[in-house]
Amino acid sequence: MFVPIEKGKTKKENYEILLQNVVYFLSKEDKNVTSFSNLSAYLNYFLDDINWVGFYLYEDGKLILGPFQGLPACTEIKIGVGVCGGAAKDKVTYVVKDVHQFDGHIACDSNSNSEIVVPIVKDNKLIGVLDIDSPIRNRFDELDKVYLEKVIEKLVDIAL
Ligand code: SME
Repeated sequence: MFVPIEKGKTKKENYEILLQNVVYFLSKEDKNVTSFSNLSAYLNYFLDDINWVGFYLYEDGKLILGPFQGLPACTEIKIGVGVCGGAAKDKVTYVVKDVHQFDGHIACDSNSNSEIVVPIVKDNKLIGVLDIDSPIRNRFDELDKVYLEKVIEKLVDIAL
């Protein structure tokens, strides 16, 4: 049973608590889909003002919808297309303040106004991306980028 963890009072404190406890929800013993599923639920619990959080996984040269929390989303994304495809191609985090200004943005939930996508890379190979959407413009900043990249580092080190 998931015993709710007390959230931090500031965004930084919240991320520190999130990061300290994420290890309990990741395991090499579990199948990858299990770690991705629990991590999407875990992030959804901790992060405020988001409407979608989940994974697209790299398979057969494209991104395939993986475990997520939120409304049903597009099932396949080409590498290089949209925010997810761009971050996957460049293997760098994309922070998009206003998705309506991003050329090629793929709208899955009309409530989304900003987005962050963190690539998941192991041994230089693309595994997939973490995608988080928010209804608030400019929701994601450098702090989100730094901590979400640390979360993905833990996922790669512990579970993959
Ligand atoms: N907006 C993303 C597509 C995925 S949904 O946001 C869940 C993109 O442009 O890649």
